[in-house]
Amino acid sequence: MWDSTVGKKAVMAVSGLIMLLYLVAHMLGNLKIYFGAPEFNEYAHWLRTMGEPLLHYEWALWVVRVVLVAAVVAHAVSAYQLSRRDIRARPAKYVHRKARTSYATRTMRWGGIILALFIVWHILDLTTGHVHSGGFEEGKPYQNVVDTFSTWYGNVIYIVAVLAVGLHIRHGFWSAAQSLGVGSRSRDRALKALANVLALLLTVGFLAVPVGVMTGVVS
Ligand code: HEM
Repeated sequence: MWDSTVGKKAVMAVSGLIMLLYLVAHMLGNLKIYFGAPEFNEYAHWLRTMGEPLLHYEWALWVVRVVLVAAVVAHAVSAYQLSRRDIRARPAKYVHRKARTSYATRTMRWGGIILALFIVWHILDLTTGHVHSGGFEEGKPYQNVVDTFSTWYGNVIYIVAVLAVGLHIRHGFWSAAQSLGVGSRSRDRALKALANVLALLLTVGFLAVPVGVMTGVVS
């Protein structure tokens, strides 16, 4: 099953949906920045105390992190294997390089690579602070976020990444629905609309944070 093309597509779809759920939660959580520093910082603290006293400090957060890393690895490995299979399956080389892959396939590949690089940057910026522009303070994400979006390159990196997320989800959600077999002729249009709405909501929701800082609404 795992070796089949269908199996790999199912792995891509399920791991993609796990990451999508995380992104919806992350986007909604980020919007708390509009309610001020105490509320936003308290929310970040809650992410670490979730599940207490049954669980120890940060255990639930680590469970989420492990699931996410597993999803990212499964998604990337299956994508790589599917694209190798795609290349091997071609009977002859095409004369025009560009004609080899469709526009959507190329966008998904490059989008995926951009997002993987962004996630590394993002963690070093706002979780560990290694590449942070201001004086990174652990436990003070509100100020850290404001610092990031007070630099031109911070805005450029995040805005490009968020647009890439939107495009990736728009096409990915649609492909996942087809791989999992929930797409039928009658449902196709509704699923496409759902993919568009989801992608748009996530893009707008994530963009609201840098826009808030740039306009001075969040400061
Ligand atoms: C404007 C957009 C975004 C803002 C303002 C933002 C903000 C943050 C902040 C403040 C943290 C640190 C939370 C903490 O340590 O308490 C964080 C962590 C994280 N964000 Fe984002 N984020 C944004 C977009 C994204 C996107 C698009 C992705 C994925 C593609 C993403 C994935 C993550 C991940 C994986 C973590 C690490 C969670 C952990 O292990 O602690 N973020 N984000």
